[in-house]
Amino acid sequence: MDASTSTKARIELLRGLLDVLEQENVFDCTGTEPILRFVHPKQLEEQLPIELTEEPASKEEIDTAIRQTIRYSVKTFSPHFHNQLYAGVDEYGLVGSWLTDVLNTSQYTYEVAPVFTLMERQMMEKCLELVGYPPMPEGDGILCPGGSVSNMYGMVMARYKAVPEVKTKGLAGLPPLACFTSEAGHYSISKGAHWLGLGTDQVYKVKCDELGRMRPDELKAGVAEARRRGQLPFFVNATCGTTVLGSFDPLPEIAAVCREENLWLHVDACLGGTLLLSERYRDRLRGIELSNSVAWNPHKMLGVPLQCSLFLVKGKKALHEVNCAGARYLFQQDKHYDVSWDTGDKSMQCGRKVDGYKFWLMWKARGTKGLCESVERAMHAAEYFFGRIEHREGYRLVLPRYEGCNVCFWYVPPSMRGETETQDWWNKLYEITAKVKERMMLEGSLMVGYSPLSHANLGNFFRMVVTCQPPPTEASMDYVLEKIEQLAADL
Ligand SMILES: Cc1ncc(COP(=O)(O)O)c(C=O)c1O
Repeated sequence: MDASTSTKARIELLRGLLDVLEQENVFDCTGTEPILRFVHPKQLEEQLPIELTEEPASKEEIDTAIRQTIRYSVKTFSPHFHNQLYAGVDEYGLVGSWLTDVLNTSQYTYEVAPVFTLMERQMMEKCLELVGYPPMPEGDGILCPGGSVSNMYGMVMARYKAVPEVKTKGLAGLPPLACFTSEAGHYSISKGAHWLGLGTDQVYKVKCDELGRMRPDELKAGVAEARRRGQLPFFVNATCGTTVLGSFDPLPEIAAVCREENLWLHVDACLGGTLLLSERYRDRLRGIELSNSVAWNPHKMLGVPLQCSLFLVKGKKALHEVNCAGARYLFQQDKHYDVSWDTGDKSMQCGRKVDGYKFWLMWKARGTKGLCESVERAMHAAEYFFGRIEHREGYRLVLPRYEGCNVCFWYVPPSMRGETETQDWWNKLYEITAKVKERMMLEGSLMVGYSPLSHANLGNFFRMVVTCQPPPTEASMDYVLEKIEQLAADL
């Protein structure tokens, strides 16, 4: 195949994909298409042409494989997908994502990613401003492969600040380093403690109040306890938008404890950070500017395509100092351009996917105003949903109110109403919650996640997640109630 035939073939292949997407109604946001066609793994393995063979597949076989991929995948673009903290994607974000794939490069140097570097910088500056951090170079940031890694960056930065020699000498000879997160904080802090060699036993899970928020008095007591045990407290993770209940920790009070105790304050705003885009809701993260670092996943509520996770930090050259390894084959200092634009040595990765551009393009296309509107629309939908179930027969809210885009609740089917609520009664309700979820999946009509909350001694309840994409409506909220009631009617 000569060069021009090959170029034509690529374009045709991509155009063909667009045709398939249209024929398969992938972007259906009316909710008429099933969200999924659930098949158990063994059966699915038999139905799909999984096997990789010596000979190349034919064009028809490839076409079938693509259509089957679509057919049996979960349609997160459906208005009835509320199962995860992410859902559908903004179309400009999607175009940005495709374009970065087409141009296939790595974000580490200006040399190979000139345009993406400039756009990433602009997007990062806007995010620093949103958080209330100083602009570059006093503030800085890096895109990470997910919020767990962004949180781990916070731990690494904090540890370096507390014991800089750790970078060269390691942990030997140091007292155990203690970190603090709430009992509702994301498990990535424990994973981070393991990966960083601190040990998960050194993670203090601070008690929460009745709204799922970290208690500053308990934090203070925990820090004192760690010091009594001869540990070295160095890191506090506060959460804005906890994974299950969507609660927001009281940042000004936590920041005051960190100031008194000389501790690094990291804010895991992976979920709730999106509210910073709205004047109306940004107050829920009041005090975020007092922190040392922040993790925010625009790929969750906002609808930037997976993955797009930001780590933002205060401190000139701090990221570089902590992470640099100075590889000269990549970050030569005698390049013919201003090498301060090479961002790669600030990262723990070498090659880094271009994740900033999709957010940049989406922001460019929507404007800050448009992003704000989509956040407020999602929050309106979540509040509408809450209002619908607050006094509705058969519904029990896990919290009396919600500050974010998650609403957690139980649905009590008619057969269980009016009975004495013994432990057996609750156990049955927990089982019914899982059963209704199974029915949703088998019917392919709705996906709402469920979760227990062991630290609060609660069994399974529904965690309804509202996101910006596809833009939610009151009708799509009503549908969730109708469906759950219908699926639980005979239980
Ligand atoms: C509060 C919070 N932080 C961090 C994470 C981890 O993010 P990621 O899944 O991008 O690693 C999650 C994931 O749900 C989360 O809810």
